Amino acid sequence: MKITLTKQKKAKPDYSKLGFGKYFTDHMLVMDYKDGKWQEPEIMPYQPFALDPSTCVLHYGQGIFEGLKAYKNKDGKITMFRPYDNFRRMNRSAARLCMPALDIEETVENLKKLIMIDEDWIPTEPGTALYIRPTMIATDPMLGVHPGHTYRFFIILSPVGSYYESGLTPTKIMIENEYVRAPLGGTGEAKCMGNYAASLLAGDIANKHGYEQVLWLDAKEKKYVEEVGAMNMFFVFDGVVKTPALVGSILPGITRDSVIRVLEHEGMPVEECRISVDDIRNAIKSGHMDEAFGSGTAAVISPVGVLGIDGEDMVINNFEMGKITAFLYDKLTGIQTGRYADPFGWVVHVN
Ligand code: PLP
Ligand code: COI
Repeated sequence: MKITLTKQKKAKPDYSKLGFGKYFTDHMLVMDYKDGKWQEPEIMPYQPFALDPSTCVLHYGQGIFEGLKAYKNKDGKITMFRPYDNFRRMNRSAARLCMPALDIEETVENLKKLIMIDEDWIPTEPGTALYIRPTMIATDPMLGVHPGHTYRFFIILSPVGSYYESGLTPTKIMIENEYVRAPLGGTGEAKCMGNYAASLLAGDIANKHGYEQVLWLDAKEKKYVEEVGAMNMFFVFDGVVKTPALVGSILPGITRDSVIRVLEHEGMPVEECRISVDDIRNAIKSGHMDEAFGSGTAAVISPVGVLGIDGEDMVINNFEMGKITAFLYDKLTGIQTGRYADPFGWVVHVN
């Protein structure tokens, strides 16, 4: 791999006020695809791309991405959380969008090199991490609607704090009745750019009404809850943790899978099933909904304190983080940062 180091390192941000995705490290990895194969990857100084205005990703959105995190412990040991799963999912997204697959082993090894070059950017304050954003775009300069023949894969790195400005304070989420995120047979299972563009209007309206995000319903009946813009959802009904089953329109979250496996490992009841808005409303009204939380790489485990259902704000657990939510936040961040043992083999060492 070709490596070109920057001559001018950037000033580091204040690691106690990072927010999410606002700062980028000194280097990035770029790898182009042409003539039917991936070319030699290159690590180079972080810099803008020059793209022809006709580049097809700019017109038809043939682009996919991933999100994962790296951590550094007190002894300088750097780890990533489940990177192979992220690149496996990226390859599934690539297949859905007619894009070429990556060699997963090689990509993880190249990513390790990039992280080591920018390791002084990994924040160590509690609740922070180095967010890794692998992305693939179609780069052909052409306006015909058909799959590209040339692609660019790149990885950028961003030191991050919490995804929500409110940190671990419970969020307010609105159940979205009008717009839908993904129908069955659509691209909901893929982490493709268009899914996020399509979600913006509903999110914007929800923000104006004082909610952080929307909870999407199934596109067919608008009856069953699916997921939130950047998180999968979990609800605790009378001590039983339930999450929407992966029916084809929901992103199969790696944090979601980690939550399920941690709960199973602890012998705590967890179910993947259909969950209707009526089930949720009735459970909250009758005192049978103990907790609700979202799971995602960026958001980790995020308690939900209010669900807006048909214009009514329904408070969950007195707007406090519940016991299972707190347990999972502690357990997962503990495994991720090395505070706890990792019986699952999820942690991958970088150095
Ligand atoms: N759902 C959507 C739409 C997302 O963008 C994300 C974030 O990646 C998730 C769920 C959570 O997935 P993961 O836990 O793999 O980050
Ligand atoms: C993530 O959790 O990694 C995401 O990609 C969510 C969002 C920032 C799109």
